[in-house]
Amino acid sequence: MPHENTATATLPSGHPRELASAPGSEWWRSAVIYQIYPRSFADASGDGIGDLAGITQRLESLANLGVDAVWLSPFFRSPQKDAGYDVSDYCDVDPIFGTLDDFDALRDRAHELGLRVIVDLVPNHCSSEHEWFQEAMAAGPGSPERDRFIFRPGTGDNGELPPNNWHSMFGGPAWTRTTNADGTPGDWYLHLFDSTQPDFDWTNPWVWEQFRQILRFWLDRGADGFRVDVAHGLMKAEGLPDIEEAAEEDSELAEGLMGSLEVPYWGQDTVHAVYRDWHAVLAEYEGDRVLCAEAWVEPLAKAALWVRPDEMHQAFNFSYLATPWLAPRLRDVITESLEAFTGVGAPSTWVLSNHDVVRHASRLGLAPYAAGPGAGIGPSSPEKPDAALGLHRARAATALMLALPGSAYLYQGEELGLPEVIELDDEYRQDPSFHRTGGEVYGRDGCRVPIPWEPDAPAFGFNTTGESWLPQPETFARFAHAAQADVEGSTLELYRLALALRAEHGFGLGTLTWLEGYADEVLAFRNGGVTVIANLGDAPVELPAGEVILASDPLEAGAVPSDTTVWVAA
Ligand code: GLC
Repeated sequence: MPHENTATATLPSGHPRELASAPGSEWWRSAVIYQIYPRSFADASGDGIGDLAGITQRLESLANLGVDAVWLSPFFRSPQKDAGYDVSDYCDVDPIFGTLDDFDALRDRAHELGLRVIVDLVPNHCSSEHEWFQEAMAAGPGSPERDRFIFRPGTGDNGELPPNNWHSMFGGPAWTRTTNADGTPGDWYLHLFDSTQPDFDWTNPWVWEQFRQILRFWLDRGADGFRVDVAHGLMKAEGLPDIEEAAEEDSELAEGLMGSLEVPYWGQDTVHAVYRDWHAVLAEYEGDRVLCAEAWVEPLAKAALWVRPDEMHQAFNFSYLATPWLAPRLRDVITESLEAFTGVGAPSTWVLSNHDVVRHASRLGLAPYAAGPGAGIGPSSPEKPDAALGLHRARAATALMLALPGSAYLYQGEELGLPEVIELDDEYRQDPSFHRTGGEVYGRDGCRVPIPWEPDAPAFGFNTTGESWLPQPETFARFAHAAQADVEGSTLELYRLALALRAEHGFGLGTLTWLEGYADEVLAFRNGGVTVIANLGDAPVELPAGEVILASDPLEAGAVPSDTTVWVAA
Protein backbone atom coordinates (compact mmCIF):
# COMPACT_ATOMS: atom_id res chain seq x y z
CA MET A 1 0.00 0.00 0.00
CA PRO A 2 1.45 3.42 -0.87
CA HIS A 3 2.39 5.73 1.94
CA GLU A 4 0.07 8.72 1.75
CA ASN A 5 1.62 11.52 3.68
CA THR A 6 -0.49 14.44 4.60
CA ALA A 7 2.35 16.82 5.38
CA THR A 8 5.87 16.92 6.68
CA ALA A 9 7.37 18.44 9.79
CA THR A 10 10.87 18.88 11.07
CA LEU A 11 12.08 16.87 14.01
CA PRO A 12 14.30 18.40 16.69
CA SER A 13 17.06 16.50 14.89
CA GLY A 14 16.39 18.49 11.73
CA HIS A 15 15.11 15.36 10.01
CA PRO A 16 11.83 15.74 8.12
CA ARG A 17 9.12 13.14 8.42
CA GLU A 18 5.41 12.70 7.86
CA LEU A 19 2.89 14.41 10.10
CA ALA A 20 0.46 11.52 9.98
CA SER A 21 -0.25 8.76 7.51
CA ALA A 22 -3.63 7.83 6.17
CA PRO A 23 -5.31 5.53 8.70
CA GLY A 24 -4.43 1.95 7.85
CA SER A 25 -1.03 2.68 6.37
CA GLU A 26 0.89 3.84 9.43
CA TRP A 27 4.44 2.48 9.48
CA TRP A 28 3.95 0.41 12.63
CA ARG A 29 1.21 -1.73 11.10
CA SER A 30 3.74 -3.66 9.07
CA ALA A 31 7.04 -2.78 10.76
CA VAL A 32 9.79 -5.14 11.75
CA ILE A 33 11.12 -3.79 15.03
CA TYR A 34 14.53 -4.84 16.36
CA GLN A 35 15.03 -4.95 20.11
CA ILE A 36 18.37 -3.63 21.27
CA TYR A 37 19.37 -4.62 24.78
CA PRO A 38 21.83 -1.77 25.40
CA ARG A 39 23.96 -3.61 27.97
CA SER A 40 24.82 -6.27 25.43
CA PHE A 41 24.75 -4.79 21.93
CA ALA A 42 27.97 -2.82 21.47
CA ASP A 43 30.32 -1.20 23.95
CA ALA A 44 32.15 1.92 22.77
CA SER A 45 33.62 2.78 26.19
CA GLY A 46 35.16 -0.67 26.65
CA ASP A 47 34.01 -1.09 30.25
CA GLY A 48 32.24 -4.36 29.45
CA ILE A 49 28.71 -2.91 29.44
CA GLY A 50 27.22 -1.80 26.14
CA ASP A 51 26.35 1.87 25.63
CA LEU A 52 24.49 4.32 23.40
CA ALA A 53 27.62 5.39 21.50
CA GLY A 54 28.29 1.71 20.74
CA ILE A 55 24.77 1.34 19.38
CA THR A 56 25.16 4.41 17.17
CA GLN A 57 28.35 2.98 15.66
CA ARG A 58 26.59 -0.27 14.78
CA LEU A 59 23.25 1.14 13.58
CA GLU A 60 24.15 0.86 9.93
CA SER A 61 24.24 -2.92 10.24
CA LEU A 62 20.58 -2.81 11.30
CA ALA A 63 19.63 -0.64 8.36
CA ASN A 64 21.40 -3.22 6.17
CA LEU A 65 19.53 -6.01 7.87
CA GLY A 66 16.33 -4.33 6.70
CA VAL A 67 14.46 -3.57 9.91
CA ASP A 68 12.23 -0.51 10.25
CA ALA A 69 12.77 0.51 13.84
CA VAL A 70 14.76 -0.18 16.96
CA TRP A 71 13.35 -0.56 20.45
CA LEU A 72 15.91 0.21 23.14
CA SER A 73 15.52 -1.53 26.49
CA PRO A 74 15.96 0.96 29.37
CA PHE A 75 19.06 3.15 29.35
CA PHE A 76 17.78 5.60 31.99
CA ARG A 77 19.42 6.35 35.31
CA SER A 78 19.15 3.24 37.38
CA PRO A 79 20.97 1.31 40.10
CA GLN A 80 20.68 -1.65 37.69
CA LYS A 81 19.12 -4.03 40.20
CA ASP A 82 16.92 -5.34 37.38
CA ALA A 83 19.16 -4.41 34.45
CA GLY A 84 17.65 -0.93 34.09
CA TYR A 85 13.99 -1.85 34.68
CA ASP A 86 14.47 -0.13 38.04
CA VAL A 87 14.52 3.52 36.99
CA SER A 88 15.77 6.25 39.30
CA ASP A 89 15.42 9.10 36.76
CA TYR A 90 13.16 8.67 33.74
CA CYS A 91 14.50 11.74 31.97
CA ASP A 92 18.23 11.12 32.01
CA VAL A 93 20.66 8.57 30.64
CA ASP A 94 22.56 6.41 33.10
CA PRO A 95 26.29 7.22 32.95
CA ILE A 96 27.07 3.58 32.16
CA PHE A 97 25.16 4.06 28.90
CA GLY A 98 26.28 7.64 28.15
CA THR A 99 24.52 10.99 28.15
CA LEU A 100 21.44 12.67 26.70
CA ASP A 101 23.72 13.97 23.94
CA ASP A 102 24.57 10.38 23.10
CA PHE A 103 20.84 9.66 22.86
CA ASP A 104 20.42 12.62 20.50
CA ALA A 105 23.28 11.38 18.34
CA LEU A 106 21.77 7.89 18.25
CA ARG A 107 18.36 9.27 17.31
CA ASP A 108 19.84 11.44 14.54
CA ARG A 109 21.84 8.58 13.06
CA ALA A 110 18.84 6.26 13.25
CA HIS A 111 16.57 8.75 11.51
CA GLU A 112 19.22 9.41 8.90
CA LEU A 113 19.26 5.66 8.19
CA GLY A 114 15.45 5.55 8.07
CA LEU A 115 15.13 3.73 11.40
CA ARG A 116 12.57 4.80 14.02
CA VAL A 117 13.51 4.81 17.67
CA ILE A 118 11.26 3.36 20.37
CA VAL A 119 12.15 3.80 24.02
CA ASP A 120 11.11 1.62 26.92
CA LEU A 121 8.78 3.15 29.47
CA VAL A 122 8.55 1.53 32.91
CA PRO A 123 5.37 2.85 34.56
CA ASN A 124 4.45 0.04 36.96
CA HIS A 125 7.30 0.72 39.34
CA CYS A 126 10.45 2.78 39.73
CA SER A 127 13.68 2.21 41.63
CA SER A 128 13.65 2.48 45.41
CA GLU A 129 16.44 4.99 44.82
CA HIS A 130 14.15 7.29 42.81
CA GLU A 131 13.70 10.56 44.68
CA TRP A 132 9.91 10.02 44.66
CA PHE A 133 10.33 6.88 46.74
CA GLN A 134 13.05 8.35 48.91
CA GLU A 135 10.73 11.26 49.68
CA ALA A 136 7.89 8.85 50.46
CA MET A 137 10.06 6.92 52.89
CA ALA A 138 11.21 10.12 54.57
CA ALA A 139 7.73 11.68 54.77
CA GLY A 140 6.29 8.76 56.68
CA PRO A 141 2.82 7.17 56.95
CA GLY A 142 -0.22 9.21 55.93
CA SER A 143 1.79 11.67 53.81
CA PRO A 144 0.91 12.57 50.21
CA GLU A 145 4.39 11.33 49.24
CA ARG A 146 3.50 7.84 50.48
CA ASP A 147 0.33 7.93 48.34
CA ARG A 148 2.49 7.80 45.20
CA PHE A 149 3.19 4.16 46.06
CA ILE A 150 1.28 1.32 47.70
CA PHE A 151 2.09 1.37 51.41
CA ARG A 152 -0.14 -0.64 53.75
CA PRO A 153 -0.06 -1.70 57.39
CA GLY A 154 0.80 -5.35 57.90
CA THR A 155 -1.53 -8.04 59.20
CA GLY A 156 -1.05 -10.31 62.19
CA ASP A 157 -1.11 -9.10 65.79
CA ASN A 158 1.63 -6.55 65.34
CA GLY A 159 1.62 -5.97 61.61
CA GLU A 160 4.39 -8.52 61.26
CA LEU A 161 2.73 -10.29 58.32
CA PRO A 162 2.45 -8.82 54.83
CA PRO A 163 -0.83 -7.09 53.89
CA ASN A 164 -1.82 -9.91 51.51
CA ASN A 165 -0.49 -13.13 49.94
CA TRP A 166 0.87 -11.71 46.67
CA HIS A 167 4.22 -12.99 45.39
CA SER A 168 7.01 -11.10 43.70
CA MET A 169 7.48 -12.28 40.11
CA PHE A 170 11.10 -12.80 41.03
CA GLY A 171 10.32 -15.04 44.00
CA GLY A 172 9.44 -14.36 47.64
CA PRO A 173 6.72 -12.03 48.93
CA ALA A 174 5.60 -8.95 46.99
CA TRP A 175 5.84 -6.82 50.15
CA THR A 176 8.73 -5.40 52.13
CA ARG A 177 8.37 -3.88 55.56
CA THR A 178 9.68 -0.39 56.25
CA THR A 179 11.30 0.92 59.40
CA ASN A 180 9.89 4.07 61.00
CA ALA A 181 12.07 7.08 61.82
CA ASP A 182 12.18 5.98 65.46
CA GLY A 183 13.51 2.56 64.51
CA THR A 184 10.24 0.66 65.05
CA PRO A 185 8.89 -1.61 62.29
CA GLY A 186 6.52 0.29 60.00
CA ASP A 187 4.18 -0.21 57.06
CA TRP A 188 4.86 -2.49 54.10
CA TYR A 189 5.21 -1.44 50.45
CA LEU A 190 4.20 -3.43 47.40
CA HIS A 191 6.69 -4.56 44.74
CA LEU A 192 5.46 -7.04 42.17
CA PHE A 193 9.09 -7.45 41.10
CA ASP A 194 12.25 -6.90 43.16
CA SER A 195 12.12 -5.18 46.55
CA THR A 196 14.07 -2.35 44.89
CA GLN A 197 11.14 -1.81 42.46
CA PRO A 198 8.22 -0.27 44.42
CA ASP A 199 4.89 -0.22 42.55
CA PHE A 200 3.24 3.13 41.87
CA ASP A 201 -0.32 3.76 42.99
CA TRP A 202 -2.03 4.48 39.68
CA THR A 203 -5.22 5.55 41.40
CA ASN A 204 -3.31 8.73 42.33
CA PRO A 205 -3.65 11.56 39.73
CA TRP A 206 -0.17 12.76 40.71
CA VAL A 207 1.30 9.62 39.16
CA TRP A 208 -0.68 10.20 35.94
CA GLU A 209 0.75 13.70 35.64
CA GLN A 210 4.35 12.57 36.15
CA PHE A 211 4.04 10.04 33.36
CA ARG A 212 2.45 12.53 30.96
CA GLN A 213 5.53 14.67 31.50
CA ILE A 214 7.87 11.73 30.94
CA LEU A 215 6.09 10.86 27.69
CA ARG A 216 6.41 14.47 26.52
CA PHE A 217 10.06 14.60 27.47
CA TRP A 218 10.92 11.73 25.10
CA LEU A 219 8.42 12.76 22.42
CA ASP A 220 9.95 16.25 22.38
CA ARG A 221 13.34 14.57 22.02
CA GLY A 222 12.20 12.80 18.88
CA ALA A 223 11.32 9.34 20.20
CA ASP A 224 9.02 7.57 17.75
CA GLY A 225 7.20 5.72 20.47
CA PHE A 226 7.27 3.62 23.59
CA ARG A 227 7.34 -0.01 24.52
CA VAL A 228 5.36 -0.06 27.75
CA ASP A 229 6.72 -2.36 30.43
CA VAL A 230 4.25 -4.49 32.42
CA ALA A 231 1.36 -2.66 30.77
CA HIS A 232 -1.14 -5.10 32.27
CA GLY A 233 -0.09 -4.43 35.86
CA LEU A 234 -0.55 -0.75 36.67
CA MET A 235 -3.96 -1.08 38.28
CA LYS A 236 -4.58 -3.47 41.14
CA ALA A 237 -8.01 -4.79 42.15
CA GLU A 238 -9.68 -2.58 44.72
CA GLY A 239 -8.87 -3.54 48.29
CA LEU A 240 -5.84 -5.60 47.17
CA PRO A 241 -7.59 -8.94 47.76
CA ASP A 242 -5.65 -12.14 48.38
CA ILE A 243 -4.87 -14.38 45.43
CA GLU A 244 -7.15 -17.37 45.43
CA GLU A 245 -5.46 -20.57 46.45
CA ALA A 246 -5.71 -22.18 43.03
CA ALA A 247 -3.69 -19.43 41.37
CA GLU A 248 -1.34 -18.87 44.26
CA GLU A 249 1.00 -21.74 43.64
CA ASP A 250 1.89 -20.72 40.14
CA SER A 251 1.82 -16.97 40.60
CA GLU A 252 5.62 -16.66 40.52
CA LEU A 253 8.13 -16.29 37.74
CA ALA A 254 9.15 -19.94 37.93
CA GLU A 255 5.95 -20.77 36.07
CA GLY A 256 6.49 -18.23 33.33
CA LEU A 257 7.55 -14.64 33.34
CA MET A 258 4.38 -13.28 34.87
CA GLY A 259 3.18 -16.39 36.67
CA SER A 260 -0.54 -17.08 36.73
CA LEU A 261 -2.54 -14.47 34.85
CA GLU A 262 -5.68 -14.95 36.96
CA VAL A 263 -4.60 -12.70 39.81
CA PRO A 264 -5.88 -9.36 41.15
CA TYR A 265 -2.95 -7.36 39.79
CA TRP A 266 -2.90 -8.35 36.13
CA GLY A 267 -5.24 -7.17 33.41
CA GLN A 268 -7.66 -5.07 35.47
CA ASP A 269 -10.23 -3.19 33.38
CA THR A 270 -9.38 0.11 35.03
CA VAL A 271 -5.93 0.16 33.39
CA HIS A 272 -7.33 1.10 29.99
CA ALA A 273 -8.09 4.67 31.03
CA VAL A 274 -4.34 5.23 31.42
CA TYR A 275 -3.65 4.26 27.82
CA ARG A 276 -6.49 6.41 26.50
CA ASP A 277 -4.83 9.29 28.28
CA TRP A 278 -1.43 8.48 26.74
CA HIS A 279 -2.96 7.98 23.29
CA ALA A 280 -4.17 11.56 23.50
CA VAL A 281 -0.69 12.76 24.50
CA LEU A 282 0.94 11.01 21.52
CA ALA A 283 -1.71 12.40 19.21
CA GLU A 284 -0.52 15.93 20.08
CA TYR A 285 2.71 15.13 18.24
CA GLU A 286 3.51 14.97 14.55
CA GLY A 287 4.30 11.62 13.01
CA ASP A 288 2.82 8.26 13.76
CA ARG A 289 4.15 7.77 17.26
CA VAL A 290 3.48 4.36 18.68
CA LEU A 291 2.66 2.69 22.00
CA CYS A 292 3.35 -1.01 22.30
CA ALA A 293 2.06 -2.95 25.29
CA GLU A 294 3.97 -5.59 27.13
CA ALA A 295 0.72 -7.10 28.35
CA TRP A 296 0.83 -10.73 29.44
CA VAL A 297 -2.90 -11.42 29.24
CA GLU A 298 -4.93 -14.25 27.85
CA PRO A 299 -6.89 -15.03 25.75
CA LEU A 300 -5.86 -13.04 22.69
CA ALA A 301 -9.28 -11.38 22.62
CA LYS A 302 -8.32 -9.80 25.95
CA ALA A 303 -4.91 -8.68 24.66
CA ALA A 304 -6.77 -6.97 21.81
CA LEU A 305 -8.43 -4.66 24.36
CA TRP A 306 -5.05 -2.95 24.79
CA VAL A 307 -5.05 -1.90 21.12
CA ARG A 308 -8.52 -0.52 20.61
CA PRO A 309 -8.45 2.57 18.37
CA ASP A 310 -8.04 5.05 21.22
CA GLU A 311 -5.51 3.05 23.27
CA MET A 312 -2.17 1.55 22.33
CA HIS A 313 -1.18 0.74 18.78
CA GLN A 314 0.41 -2.66 19.28
CA ALA A 315 0.59 -5.36 21.93
CA PHE A 316 3.18 -8.12 22.06
CA ASN A 317 1.72 -11.43 21.05
CA PHE A 318 2.97 -13.62 23.88
CA SER A 319 0.45 -16.32 23.05
CA TYR A 320 2.38 -16.78 19.81
CA LEU A 321 5.75 -16.79 21.55
CA ALA A 322 4.54 -19.40 24.04
CA THR A 323 3.10 -21.76 21.43
CA PRO A 324 5.09 -24.97 21.09
CA TRP A 325 6.44 -26.04 17.71
CA LEU A 326 3.33 -27.97 16.74
CA ALA A 327 1.49 -27.11 13.53
CA PRO A 328 -2.12 -27.40 14.75
CA ARG A 329 -1.36 -25.19 17.76
CA LEU A 330 0.41 -22.62 15.58
CA ARG A 331 -2.42 -22.62 13.04
CA ASP A 332 -4.89 -21.90 15.82
CA VAL A 333 -2.86 -19.14 17.43
CA ILE A 334 -2.21 -17.43 14.09
CA THR A 335 -5.90 -17.56 13.16
CA GLU A 336 -6.98 -16.36 16.60
CA SER A 337 -4.43 -13.54 16.60
CA LEU A 338 -5.50 -12.24 13.23
CA GLU A 339 -9.16 -12.38 14.22
CA ALA A 340 -8.66 -10.78 17.61
CA PHE A 341 -6.48 -7.89 16.50
CA THR A 342 -8.22 -7.27 13.17
CA GLY A 343 -11.44 -7.17 15.15
CA VAL A 344 -10.31 -3.95 16.83
CA GLY A 345 -8.58 -2.50 13.74
CA ALA A 346 -5.04 -3.22 14.98
CA PRO A 347 -2.28 -5.28 13.38
CA SER A 348 -1.25 -8.49 15.04
CA THR A 349 2.34 -8.59 16.22
CA TRP A 350 4.60 -11.62 16.24
CA VAL A 351 7.58 -12.36 18.45
CA LEU A 352 9.76 -15.37 19.17
CA SER A 353 12.51 -14.01 21.42
CA ASN A 354 13.22 -11.15 23.80
CA HIS A 355 15.38 -10.36 26.82
CA ASP A 356 13.04 -12.25 29.18
CA VAL A 357 12.77 -15.66 27.54
CA VAL A 358 15.04 -18.51 26.48
CA ARG A 359 16.29 -17.69 22.97
CA HIS A 360 14.17 -19.49 20.39
CA ALA A 361 17.19 -21.17 18.78
CA SER A 362 17.48 -23.08 22.07
CA ARG A 363 13.84 -23.19 23.16
CA LEU A 364 12.81 -24.99 19.99
CA GLY A 365 15.50 -27.59 20.62
CA LEU A 366 13.77 -28.60 23.85
CA ALA A 367 10.83 -30.93 24.09
CA PRO A 368 7.77 -28.72 24.33
CA TYR A 369 7.76 -27.14 26.99
CA ALA A 370 10.68 -27.91 29.26
CA ALA A 371 11.54 -24.38 30.40
CA GLY A 372 8.82 -21.89 31.25
CA PRO A 373 9.44 -18.64 29.36
CA GLY A 374 11.20 -16.75 32.15
CA ALA A 375 12.70 -19.68 33.99
CA GLY A 376 15.89 -19.97 31.95
CA ILE A 377 18.17 -22.97 31.46
CA GLY A 378 21.42 -23.61 33.29
CA PRO A 379 24.07 -26.23 33.93
CA SER A 380 21.87 -28.43 36.09
CA SER A 381 18.60 -28.07 34.19
CA PRO A 382 17.14 -31.55 33.68
CA GLU A 383 16.86 -31.06 29.95
CA LYS A 384 19.33 -29.39 27.60
CA PRO A 385 18.38 -28.26 24.12
CA ASP A 386 19.53 -30.08 21.01
CA ALA A 387 21.45 -27.15 19.50
CA ALA A 388 21.38 -28.26 15.86
CA LEU A 389 17.69 -29.12 15.95
CA GLY A 390 16.95 -25.87 17.78
CA LEU A 391 18.69 -23.73 15.19
CA HIS A 392 17.12 -25.65 12.29
CA ARG A 393 13.67 -25.10 13.77
CA ALA A 394 14.41 -21.52 14.72
CA ARG A 395 15.22 -20.69 11.10
CA ALA A 396 11.97 -22.30 9.99
CA ALA A 397 10.05 -20.53 12.76
CA THR A 398 11.46 -17.14 11.77
CA ALA A 399 10.71 -17.72 8.09
CA LEU A 400 7.16 -18.56 9.12
CA MET A 401 6.81 -15.53 11.39
CA LEU A 402 8.17 -13.06 8.84
CA ALA A 403 5.62 -14.22 6.26
CA LEU A 404 2.67 -13.31 8.48
CA PRO A 405 0.64 -10.11 8.09
CA GLY A 406 1.25 -7.52 10.81
CA SER A 407 4.32 -6.34 12.64
CA ALA A 408 7.20 -8.49 13.91
CA TYR A 409 9.68 -8.05 16.73
CA LEU A 410 13.23 -9.39 16.58
CA TYR A 411 15.61 -9.64 19.53
CA GLN A 412 19.27 -8.77 19.05
CA GLY A 413 21.34 -11.82 18.17
CA GLU A 414 18.51 -13.94 16.83
CA GLU A 415 19.53 -12.88 13.31
CA LEU A 416 22.81 -14.65 14.10
CA GLY A 417 21.00 -17.80 15.24
CA LEU A 418 22.46 -17.19 18.70
CA PRO A 419 21.64 -19.86 21.26
CA GLU A 420 20.89 -19.36 24.94
CA VAL A 421 24.09 -19.41 27.00
CA ILE A 422 23.54 -22.33 29.38
CA GLU A 423 26.99 -22.90 30.88
CA LEU A 424 27.07 -19.67 32.85
CA ASP A 425 28.58 -19.98 36.31
CA ASP A 426 26.38 -18.88 39.21
CA GLU A 427 28.86 -16.18 40.22
CA TYR A 428 28.10 -14.26 37.00
CA ARG A 429 24.34 -14.45 37.17
CA GLN A 430 22.71 -11.10 37.84
CA ASP A 431 19.00 -11.68 37.25
CA PRO A 432 17.13 -10.92 40.50
CA SER A 433 14.96 -13.97 39.88
CA PHE A 434 18.07 -16.18 40.28
CA HIS A 435 18.98 -14.56 43.58
CA ARG A 436 15.46 -14.24 45.00
CA THR A 437 14.75 -17.94 44.40
CA GLY A 438 18.05 -19.09 45.85
CA GLY A 439 19.12 -20.28 42.42
CA GLU A 440 16.04 -22.43 41.85
CA VAL A 441 15.21 -20.35 38.78
CA TYR A 442 18.18 -19.68 36.48
CA GLY A 443 16.44 -16.66 35.05
CA ARG A 444 17.26 -14.56 32.05
CA ASP A 445 21.00 -13.94 31.94
CA GLY A 446 21.48 -16.69 29.34
CA CYS A 447 19.73 -14.64 26.65
CA ARG A 448 21.48 -11.40 27.64
CA VAL A 449 25.12 -12.23 26.97
CA PRO A 450 26.83 -9.56 24.80
CA ILE A 451 26.46 -10.45 21.15
CA PRO A 452 29.39 -11.36 18.86
CA TRP A 453 30.36 -9.10 15.97
CA GLU A 454 33.79 -10.42 14.95
CA PRO A 455 34.99 -14.01 15.25
CA ASP A 456 38.58 -13.23 16.31
CA ALA A 457 38.47 -9.86 18.10
CA PRO A 458 38.47 -9.21 21.88
CA ALA A 459 34.98 -9.83 23.31
CA PHE A 460 34.08 -10.91 19.76
CA GLY A 461 34.02 -7.25 18.71
CA PHE A 462 31.54 -6.19 21.42
CA ASN A 463 34.31 -3.75 22.40
CA THR A 464 38.05 -3.49 21.96
CA THR A 465 39.09 -4.26 25.54
CA GLY A 466 37.75 -7.81 25.85
CA GLU A 467 35.63 -6.93 28.90
CA SER A 468 32.13 -8.34 29.07
CA TRP A 469 29.60 -8.06 31.92
CA LEU A 470 28.56 -11.66 31.27
CA PRO A 471 31.20 -14.01 29.90
CA GLN A 472 30.77 -14.97 26.25
CA PRO A 473 31.33 -18.63 25.35
CA GLU A 474 34.00 -19.61 22.79
CA THR A 475 31.23 -20.97 20.56
CA PHE A 476 30.11 -17.37 19.91
CA ALA A 477 32.94 -17.06 17.34
CA ARG A 478 31.07 -19.00 14.72
CA PHE A 479 27.90 -16.96 15.26
CA ALA A 480 29.70 -13.61 14.88
CA HIS A 481 28.13 -11.09 12.52
CA ALA A 482 31.28 -10.83 10.38
CA ALA A 483 31.51 -14.61 10.11
CA GLN A 484 28.03 -14.71 8.56
CA ALA A 485 27.83 -11.53 6.47
CA ASP A 486 27.67 -12.38 2.77
CA VAL A 487 27.96 -16.09 3.53
CA GLU A 488 25.33 -17.93 1.55
CA GLY A 489 22.99 -19.92 3.75
CA SER A 490 24.04 -18.21 6.99
CA THR A 491 21.30 -17.27 9.43
CA LEU A 492 22.17 -13.59 9.02
CA GLU A 493 21.70 -13.83 5.25
CA LEU A 494 18.44 -15.74 5.74
CA TYR A 495 17.09 -12.87 7.87
CA ARG A 496 18.32 -10.26 5.41
CA LEU A 497 16.69 -12.01 2.47
CA ALA A 498 13.49 -12.66 4.38
CA LEU A 499 13.19 -9.00 5.39
CA ALA A 500 13.85 -7.77 1.84
CA LEU A 501 11.28 -10.16 0.36
CA ARG A 502 8.77 -9.41 3.11
CA ALA A 503 8.96 -5.73 2.16
CA GLU A 504 8.91 -6.42 -1.58
CA HIS A 505 5.80 -8.62 -1.33
CA GLY A 506 4.05 -6.39 1.19
CA PHE A 507 3.47 -9.22 3.68
CA GLY A 508 3.05 -6.83 6.60
CA LEU A 509 -0.09 -5.25 5.17
CA GLY A 510 -1.14 -8.44 3.39
CA THR A 511 -3.86 -10.99 4.06
CA LEU A 512 -3.38 -14.60 5.06
CA THR A 513 -5.40 -17.35 3.40
CA TRP A 514 -4.90 -20.91 4.64
CA LEU A 515 -4.47 -23.55 1.91
CA GLU A 516 -6.41 -26.81 2.11
CA GLY A 517 -5.17 -30.27 1.26
CA TYR A 518 -2.04 -30.40 3.43
CA ALA A 519 -1.30 -32.77 6.31
CA ASP A 520 -2.03 -31.60 9.83
CA GLU A 521 1.68 -31.09 10.59
CA VAL A 522 2.03 -28.65 7.70
CA LEU A 523 1.20 -24.94 7.77
CA ALA A 524 0.36 -23.76 4.27
CA PHE A 525 -1.00 -20.34 3.35
CA ARG A 526 -0.95 -17.55 0.81
CA ASN A 527 0.05 -13.98 1.57
CA GLY A 528 -0.16 -11.77 -1.52
CA GLY A 529 1.44 -13.59 -4.44
CA VAL A 530 3.43 -15.99 -2.30
CA THR A 531 2.69 -19.49 -1.02
CA VAL A 532 4.27 -20.28 2.33
CA ILE A 533 4.81 -23.87 3.46
CA ALA A 534 6.16 -24.70 6.91
CA ASN A 535 6.67 -28.41 7.34
CA LEU A 536 6.63 -29.36 11.02
CA GLY A 537 6.07 -33.05 10.28
CA ASP A 538 8.53 -35.83 9.43
CA ALA A 539 7.44 -36.57 5.87
CA PRO A 540 8.76 -34.31 3.07
CA VAL A 541 6.16 -32.05 1.47
CA GLU A 542 5.92 -31.60 -2.28
CA LEU A 543 6.80 -28.11 -3.47
CA PRO A 544 3.96 -26.13 -5.00
CA ALA A 545 4.44 -24.78 -8.53
CA GLY A 546 6.35 -21.52 -8.78
CA GLU A 547 9.69 -20.01 -7.93
CA VAL A 548 11.24 -20.74 -4.55
CA ILE A 549 12.28 -17.32 -3.29
CA LEU A 550 13.29 -18.37 0.21
CA ALA A 551 14.01 -21.63 1.99
CA SER A 552 14.93 -21.69 5.68
CA ASP A 553 17.30 -24.61 4.95
CA PRO A 554 18.18 -26.57 1.78
CA LEU A 555 15.40 -28.47 0.06
CA GLU A 556 15.77 -32.19 -0.55
CA ALA A 557 15.00 -33.71 -3.93
CA GLY A 558 12.66 -30.86 -4.74
CA ALA A 559 10.61 -31.32 -1.56
CA VAL A 560 10.30 -29.39 1.71
CA PRO A 561 12.03 -31.43 4.43
CA SER A 562 11.07 -31.62 8.08
CA ASP A 563 11.29 -28.39 10.12
CA THR A 564 11.77 -26.23 7.03
CA THR A 565 9.81 -23.25 5.70
CA VAL A 566 9.70 -22.17 2.04
CA TRP A 567 8.28 -19.17 0.28
CA VAL A 568 7.18 -19.83 -3.30
CA ALA A 569 6.18 -17.01 -5.64
CA ALA A 570 3.52 -17.94 -8.15
C1 GLC B 1 9.25 -6.59 32.12
C2 GLC B 1 10.63 -6.58 31.54
C3 GLC B 1 11.51 -7.41 32.43
C4 GLC B 1 11.53 -6.76 33.80
C5 GLC B 1 10.13 -6.63 34.36
C6 GLC B 1 10.10 -5.69 35.52
O1 GLC B 1 8.67 -7.83 32.07
O2 GLC B 1 10.59 -7.05 30.23
O3 GLC B 1 12.81 -7.51 31.91
O4 GLC B 1 12.31 -7.53 34.67
O5 GLC B 1 9.26 -6.08 33.42
O6 GLC B 1 10.27 -4.37 35.09
